[in-house]
Amino acid sequence: MLDVRLGPLHLKNPVISASGCFGQGAEAATFFDPRRLGALLLKTITLNPRAGNPPPRIVETAGGIINSIGLPNKGIDRYLAETFPEVVGLADCLILNVAGERLEEWPRLAACIGDRAGIDALELNVSCPNVEQGGLPFARDPEVVARIVRGVARETPLPLIVKLAPEAPDLPAVAQAAAEAGAIAVSLINTIRALAVDWRARRPLLGYGFGGLSGPAIKPVALRLVHEVARAVAIPVIGIGGIQDADDVLEFMVAGASAVQVGTASLRDPLAMPRIIDELPERLAEAGVAHVRDLVGTLRFPPAPPAPGRP
Ligand SMILES: Cc1cc2nc3c(=O)[nH]c(=O)nc-3n(C[C@H](O)[C@H](O)[C@H](O)COP(=O)(O)O)c2cc1C
Repeated sequence: MLDVRLGPLHLKNPVISASGCFGQGAEAATFFDPRRLGALLLKTITLNPRAGNPPPRIVETAGGIINSIGLPNKGIDRYLAETFPEVVGLADCLILNVAGERLEEWPRLAACIGDRAGIDALELNVSCPNVEQGGLPFARDPEVVARIVRGVARETPLPLIVKLAPEAPDLPAVAQAAAEAGAIAVSLINTIRALAVDWRARRPLLGYGFGGLSGPAIKPVALRLVHEVARAVAIPVIGIGGIQDADDVLEFMVAGASAVQVGTASLRDPLAMPRIIDELPERLAEAGVAHVRDLVGTLRFPPAPPAPGRP
């Protein structure tokens, strides 16, 4: 009733943890058995160690949160040596999320991972800033994204998922470029660039200044973008943005997603994902839907209104 396919990956249900919201190591197994998930997807790892951004790193806002964590991590070599052994075997499907800070770093990261046992796929966080382009995200440019995917695919046989940024001027074009370059799926959306202000102090509330908005506030934008991208590409789309319950999951699937990721909801309630998975069969049964796959891309718009002056 719940299993889904993402290219070569077969997930027992469509619910995946969103990167950065469910740990990077064994802490992902603190609250429930990650085998409950369709896939366990961990926080971004970069080639070199990063300290992350100055605090405060998260502020609350109406309908969501704004974060500027800054991808703190110990770098791929130490991650693979020290942390990765803890996470191997924790989940039925394990996806690592990686990000290069320069174009040439992407294949180097992929070469470190190679065909290491225990990893089922890589998610490429192309939403992160490209140091060489003055901090603009790689994800804005279809040609750059295609080069990243091809460069990574030369160094690792692992299936590649490209995580897209909502700020790309033409998101369907970026998704098409990722698909043509060999990605097995695209995931969207990453957070939306945002700002929180302390007007009395005339300062931003976050230590870094700008941040990324996530949570229920971004769900309608994410639904629109997932729908547009799903119509433009033949590979599966993974929907992300403000998912809090089973109805949210099914909205994304009707809009065109084959699976989903849950982020901010797990920060509020670490048991949100197993709760959502438990709710799904009941929602499907109520609607008389035999299998969750039957819903994917079934959204239909009403016929266009008649032209003015006609009956
Ligand atoms: C605190 C926090 C940290 C995040 N860290 C990452 C990260 O390391 N890599 C990444 O690709 N996305 C990261 N994200 C983005 C989420 O994976 C997700 O795309 C976004 O939050 C939208 O989903 P949501 O509304 O369910 O949270 C982070 C989000 C939050 C809230």
